[in-house]
Amino acid sequence: MTSSPSVVPNDLGAFWMPFTANRQFKQNPRLFVAAKDMHYTTSDGRQVLDGTAGLWCVNAGHARPKIVEAIANQAAELDYAPAFQMGHPKAFELANRIVDIAPEGLNHVLFTNSGSESVETALKVALAYQKQKGQGSRTRLIGRERGYHGVNFGGISVGGIVTNRKMFGTLLTGVDHMPHTHNLSKNAFSRGLPAHGAELADELERIVTLHDASTIAAVIVEPVAGSTGVLIPPPDYLKRLREITRKHGILLIFDEVITGYGRLGTPFGADYFGVTPDIMVTAKGLTNGVIPMGAVLVSSEIHDAFMTGPEHLIEFFHGYTYSGNPIASAAGLATLETYKEEGLLTRGAELAKVWEDGLHSLRGEPHVIDVRNIGLVGAIELEPIAGQPTKRAFSAFLHAYENGLLIRTTGDIIALSPPLIVSESQIGEIVDGVRNALRSIQ
Ligand SMILES: Cc1ncc(COP(=O)(O)O)c(C=O)c1O
Repeated sequence: MTSSPSVVPNDLGAFWMPFTANRQFKQNPRLFVAAKDMHYTTSDGRQVLDGTAGLWCVNAGHARPKIVEAIANQAAELDYAPAFQMGHPKAFELANRIVDIAPEGLNHVLFTNSGSESVETALKVALAYQKQKGQGSRTRLIGRERGYHGVNFGGISVGGIVTNRKMFGTLLTGVDHMPHTHNLSKNAFSRGLPAHGAELADELERIVTLHDASTIAAVIVEPVAGSTGVLIPPPDYLKRLREITRKHGILLIFDEVITGYGRLGTPFGADYFGVTPDIMVTAKGLTNGVIPMGAVLVSSEIHDAFMTGPEHLIEFFHGYTYSGNPIASAAGLATLETYKEEGLLTRGAELAKVWEDGLHSLRGEPHVIDVRNIGLVGAIELEPIAGQPTKRAFSAFLHAYENGLLIRTTGDIIALSPPLIVSESQIGEIVDGVRNALRSIQ
């Protein structure tokens, strides 16, 4: 079934690759042609251990039989059904299965095709909900510095990664940002949650005082900021955000695109931190990354606020051609079954100590200024080369890839998030691969 390792495209020019150094890539392309379980196969026939679950999404590992079969069968049985004013059984079934594993109270699901679309959907639900409740002056959205909420306009507006924002004009108006929680001087080499910084949640009170609660619709945060380089919140920080938002009638949105579906050793980050948001944004692990799909979960209170007025009228003017697509729904159902059968939504907790010890053994290796970890996520922050930010980590990435390990870098941070099927010995291989890379680069 696997493609021949000799298959390479004739011309790499036409495809303008996303979030990629295109010119560098095309001089010396890195192409995967097959994948199984924990490994990719490159176009030159090498095996590469997946230290990143693709892009934080292939939580059950690659080419899992149940998922492959479900997709094939669904394509043959019902390939597409219109998403508007029509339905098909598997979308309803999947919504129910997601609600079954979600934190109590999040009882309704809107389907999307990606994390970015899930974010836009969540922000629109929040704004519309406030209007439905007669609080139309609540139009402000609050995000956080260094937050990543995808690449669409709402997401980059509430997001806080400057490179993703600065080229695109004024973005949404009426957005403010809380400070991020990363503090190397106080928290470097923390194991699990860093001790310092819970008081940063009180910055939300300052923002509320500045704008007045009556103008604020929602706050959106990632429970653990992932794409910016794994920023782990201090204990009680998220609880405090929950208290402040509740006190002021502001909706709390958790962007769980990375932390959802087992990444922290619990089904969702909300479970890990014991904090339930009003809206939860998911994607990635929902279909094991195999078919694009996202799901936004909302409380009954939010859902029910829309179920008013004449029954023949559409309640919420939002949706996508592929919302709840049959093949994506089948993939989602098979993925959730695989997670359940193999205990993957909590496997991260069983491996967390081995993972933590492995990663922290990198303390003292060249260039390392921090190691941090939670569940099956980890980051190794490197001292940047003076005047050439990102270059050192990128060299580590290239070295690791050439030596059979896929890692991910963002800025000068190496981020790791293997599939949740990773074995203890494969954790050792990941750590050794990073160690070798660090010892080999400048
Ligand atoms: C927290 C978070 N939100 C949103 C997104 C965007 O997801 P997508 O790339 O599927 O649009 C990501 C992607 O990494 C993410 O990590």
